[in-house]
Amino acid sequence: MRRTLHDIILPVIIGHRGYRAKYPENTLASFSAAMAAGAEMIELDVTLSKDRKVVVIHDDTLNRTTSGFGPVHQATLQALKRLDAGSWFDSRFAAESLPTLEEVLILAGGKILINIEIKSSAWESGFPEDAVERQVVDLIIRHDLLNSTLVSSFHAGFLKNIGKLPVHPEIAFITDRKAPQNTLDMCQRLGVFSWHPHYKSLKQRHIEKAHAQGILIFPYTVNMVENMLMLVDMGVDGVITDDPGAAISCIAAKRKTSAFIPPRD
Ligand code: G3P
Ligand code: CA
Repeated sequence: MRRTLHDIILPVIIGHRGYRAKYPENTLASFSAAMAAGAEMIELDVTLSKDRKVVVIHDDTLNRTTSGFGPVHQATLQALKRLDAGSWFDSRFAAESLPTLEEVLILAGGKILINIEIKSSAWESGFPEDAVERQVVDLIIRHDLLNSTLVSSFHAGFLKNIGKLPVHPEIAFITDRKAPQNTLDMCQRLGVFSWHPHYKSLKQRHIEKAHAQGILIFPYTVNMVENMLMLVDMGVDGVITDDPGAAISCIAAKRKTSAFIPPRD
């Protein structure tokens, strides 16, 4: 059965940048591996190319994860597509190119839930017609994936703008290790589906308060099995992990109930 965000089995295992522990992050190979391992959701990072196409890469520059150099936003999609996005990880992945968001939606849409993180570097005030957040939502709608995609960001401005659109996917707020005291109040104002805190910043009282507000908690990036188990025992609703295979081995036995999370109005 094709699952949506509203009938997921908790806790959810979310493959961070695909299956980053064993594959070059944010590539089609990495996303395919996370799906094959049995993750229920993949997480990926998006920004804009020079010609304003939505592309999948974590860093603001090409230096670390491709054969190119310099800022991503100064390269056209055609130039980005010529780069090798796999050899930096292992020569076996030399054929991997930097994907567009649309390529990932075609590969994974309808087969797995998808968490699209919009990188803060793509922020533009004024909410232009081809702003990254508008393009992301348009692609989701065009591929009929409104019920199975979650759009997240550290930058609340993207989430506010998405909330203004007449039809939009669920949204999630990400915070770093120094999450502001009022984060959950902000999450409520934004109308988020989930909060994605750094796992080291998470306290039991946060989980209780979030759940009382109807907000799910998916902490990142949880790679050690003992941390996964501790967080699940604390009551988190999923983990964002580089190693979805390890997470499945340790968490699957803890799944007891199928959650139904009603859609928001
Ligand atoms: O979405 C959670 C996590 O991916 C945020 O941090 O730097 O890995 O994108 P980062
Ligand atoms: Ca991310």
